[in-house]
Amino acid sequence: MKFPLKNKWVLITGASSGFGAAAARAFGREGAKLLLGARRVDRLNKVAAESKKSGAAAAHFHKLDVTQTASVEEFIFWAKQKIANHKSSSGNLHVLINNAGGAHSLDTIAEGKDADWEAMIQSNVLGVLRVTRAALPLLARDASASIINIGSVAGHAAYEGGAVYCAAKAGELQITRALRLELLGTGIRVGTLDPGLAETEFSLVRFRGDDASAKKVYEGMRPLTAEDIAETLIWMASRPAHVNIDELIIKPVDQAAIGKVFRRSNR
Ligand SMILES: NC(=O)c1ccc[n+]([C@@H]2O[C@H](COP(=O)([O-])OP(=O)(O)OC[C@H]3O[C@@H](n4cnc5c(N)ncnc54)[C@H](OP(=O)(O)O)[C@@H]3O)[C@@H](O)[C@H]2O)c1
Repeated sequence: MKFPLKNKWVLITGASSGFGAAAARAFGREGAKLLLGARRVDRLNKVAAESKKSGAAAAHFHKLDVTQTASVEEFIFWAKQKIANHKSSSGNLHVLINNAGGAHSLDTIAEGKDADWEAMIQSNVLGVLRVTRAALPLLARDASASIINIGSVAGHAAYEGGAVYCAAKAGELQITRALRLELLGTGIRVGTLDPGLAETEFSLVRFRGDDASAKKVYEGMRPLTAEDIAETLIWMASRPAHVNIDELIIKPVDQAAIGKVFRRSNR
């Protein structure tokens, strides 16, 4: 039987744009109760309002910087209080989506900057660890709760200029695998959703706001959308209680491998 998400608490990191914002709206449509975090609180405010409009039973948001342990702990303390205040309906967290992260620059290792390397490891690797450690006590045991981490095809294959992002997402994959083993017997499901090219603010962040370079990434091809990812997250979290989707790779039809993209403009 499909696991119902109505009135379940769902915590999403990086909910201010892209996959996280689309996931908030999609879980909202399922009638879930949302706890949304990111650094841009004005954006979270907007996403929370949209999610409520789409049907969320509750949509709360709070500032979160996953690169800072203190910020993560404060955020999870806030989340715990929000859940406690609604205890009557369902007293635990049911879905944790570790989505916050991204890539910084396409520099080769020879040209790489410490600040970019550190930002990628901090958000994509240490951020997942920090949020998971803090949120684990909140997760329902033996109640088909889910932890879903957002990885990437970059965690499965290397490309030039992607050394540290690939290393970070390969790290996320191994963290997911270790957690799956560690939580065996708790009833908590653990999985990773690893997308290929998807048009969000991802490339804008990677190219430091250079819109033309960001657009070029998707030129002549049809990328995934944030909504495609959100729909897949809903599917993963709503499988029957005995089903764990361990690892799922999702790519646009136009992308056969990281560097193998069909572009209509090149025909
Ligand atoms: N788009 C793709 O092609 C693609 C493919 C595979 C995997 N991914 C992964 O998917 C995830 C979401 O990316 P996206 O494509 O949706 O890009 P996006 O639109 O840039 O969204 C990234 C989200 O992460 C948040 N974030 C970044 N650093 C953070 C931090 N230190 N603390 C808290 N939140 C932080 C951002 O919020 P604030 O800036 O407001 O903090 C934003 O909400 C990332 O992990 C990315 O690596 C993306």
